[in-house]
Amino acid sequence: MEKKLQGQIAIITGASSGIGAGVAKSLAVAGATVVINHPVAATKPAADAVLAEIITAGGTGISYQCDVSKEDEVVKMFSDVVAQFGTVDILVNNAGLQRDSPFTEMTLEQWNFVIGVNLTGQFLCAREAIKEFLRRGVVAERSSAAGKIICMSSVHEVIPWAGHANYAASKGGIMLMMKSIAQEFAPKKIRINSICPGAIQTPINKAAWDTPQALQSLLTLIPYQRIGQPDDIGKAAVWLASDDSDYITGASIFIDGGMTLYPGFSTNG
Ligand code: BGC
Repeated sequence: MEKKLQGQIAIITGASSGIGAGVAKSLAVAGATVVINHPVAATKPAADAVLAEIITAGGTGISYQCDVSKEDEVVKMFSDVVAQFGTVDILVNNAGLQRDSPFTEMTLEQWNFVIGVNLTGQFLCAREAIKEFLRRGVVAERSSAAGKIICMSSVHEVIPWAGHANYAASKGGIMLMMKSIAQEFAPKKIRINSICPGAIQTPINKAAWDTPQALQSLLTLIPYQRIGQPDDIGKAAVWLASDDSDYITGASIFIDGGMTLYPGFSTNG
């Protein structure tokens, strides 16, 4: 297989499980050296297990603990990675979580926690990545771009989600942050796009697929009639990080089996 990201350094936030782990594996297969970010000491074993799998498969990388909602930790992660590897070429702004609640019962803590990781975390990491991309500039042998950022958004950047107002607000926020910085930094040859996954089979949405009844009900929302896999996202991430997508910036790319196609309208309306 052609290694389209050979020699490039990629930080993937929230890569100890779920979509982040899948993306880290895909980028590593494509030749990138991957920084498998995870948030706390308790997630280190899982991050190290992802790293071990990558190394066994012939890839390279490290695991790195940093809570993306904390400014000092994010600044340190970028300076440590630049000190160790020389630069950063790709940021996958993936770390995200849910703290669901009926709106009138949602605590400020639940609101702030989700916004802090999902939205502020993406802001902090994008800011530090862009500073490094601007410092280094384009190095033609690595990529036509000075850097690439992939923001992990969701179908819920456009689909309202009752009972998940904090999460949907964070994803709607990611959409316009991503487009605003894509506009700001395109002249500097920095490409910034979002992937908007639908239902991907990971721990975050286990309740939606772990019984046949739950899965059956989920499939009524997915015209393509299967749940997504982390690899569906990983393949798109490799493409968005590579020069194959060199003319694409500011795009929200939905990978959702048609979830955003208003499936309720397929038989009436
Ligand atoms: C959420 C999942 C959900 C999916 C589709 C994702 O952004 O994290 O829990 O299954 O959207 O609704």
